Formats: sequence, structure tokens, C-alpha cells
Amino acid sequence: MDDGIRKKLDDLLRIPRLGALYVTLEEMYRKAPVFAHGWDHIHRVLVNALLIADRLQDEPEPDMEIVVPAVLLHDIGFLYNPDPYVHHLTGAEHCHIYLGAWNVQEVGLIEGCIRMHKGMMARFNTKPTTLEERIVCDSDLLEKSGYIGLMQGVRTFAEFGERSHMEYRSLNEIAKHLMPLRDIEFFTSAGRKMADERGGLALRADFYKAAAREMEAYY
Ligand SMILES: [Fe+2]
Ligand SMILES: [Fe+2]
Repeated sequence: MDDGIRKKLDDLLRIPRLGALYVTLEEMYRKAPVFAHGWDHIHRVLVNALLIADRLQDEPEPDMEIVVPAVLLHDIGFLYNPDPYVHHLTGAEHCHIYLGAWNVQEVGLIEGCIRMHKGMMARFNTKPTTLEERIVCDSDLLEKSGYIGLMQGVRTFAEFGERSHMEYRSLNEIAKHLMPLRDIEFFTSAGRKMADERGGLALRADFYKAAAREMEAYY
């Protein structure tokens, strides 16, 4: 991690309510029966949020005491219900449990970030509007770009594939499902630029397209 970003993270976690929430959630996610949406993912999304906040242009200063808890809690829905298509809503409903140190108005803003974190992905229609919502959404979306995106894509479907409500139980189904993702919308210029630097979402789409082609011989 870049020294400047590490210092920013350390400074934020010295704020008592942020530091306490971070410790509580790290422990919870590490014990939880999730791995694509476990602490490893949450940690990278948090670093993404700091990187985006650092590279924002022509935007006001984001409120990191909203962004940081929203990132830490954005996938908390999976701890209550494994259905990926409602986890943003489940997370928004439950986040207040962890936010005793935030006031009602702040909790409402954090709920908004969690509810909108899927952006305009297929089967979601949750376009983020506030700066903090846009940063959280783009930070999570960066997990789908570049080589991390390839690894995280397979990992996500390994997590869901054995669950009865998901049909993605074969490599062929995973490749076909992940293939179309190419032009997903980013909501900050910094997030878009970071994705482009990693080869964007096209790298992921091309990889899964090639994998699906290779598997044609088997089906
Ligand atoms: Fe999520
Ligand atoms: Fe996520």
C-alpha cells in the first residue's frame, strides 16, 4: 500500500468511532461463513475508497465518517441472508445495529450508501447520487476490474455456486454469466480512471468470453 494512503487510513482509524467499528467488523467478517465477501474484500474496498477520495477532482471533500462505515458495512447483508440480489437492502436494514456512535441523520446517509452500492449492475437499479454513495459504489465496482476482478469473479461464484438459490454450479455457467460485463457505469471520474488503469471491465469480459469459447467443446 502507498505510504500516503496507509497514513490516511491510520489517521481515520484513530477517530474513536471509526477505529472501534473497524475492529468489531474485522473480527465479525473473519469469523463469518463468507469468503468472497469477507474481510479480504472489505479491506480492499476500503483502500479503494481512500484512493478514490484522494484522486477526486472538481468534487467537494467527501465525508469519510460516512464513507468508511458504509464501506465496512456495505456487504453486511450477506451475514443475514445469502441472497446476493437483496443483500444491499438487507444490509441497509441492519446497519444501524453497528452504528450506535452515529446520529440518526448520519445513519440515514450510511444506509443510502449501502442501498445504492450495486449501482446499475444487471438486476439492480440503484443509481448512487450523493458523493459518498458514488465513492462506495465505485470502490466496490473496482473489485470487478483488472486481475483482481478475474480472481474475485470466480471466488464470488464459488461462494454462491453451492447455494440452492443460485444456478451457477459449473465453470461454463460462471463464464457465461460473467461474460457480458463490459460497460458498467462508474460514478466518479477517479473510479473510472482507476478501472481503466487495470484494463477496465473489458479485460474481465474478454477473459470469460474466451473461457466460454474454450468450454464449447464440452457441452
Ligand atoms: Fe455487495
Ligand atoms: Fe462488496
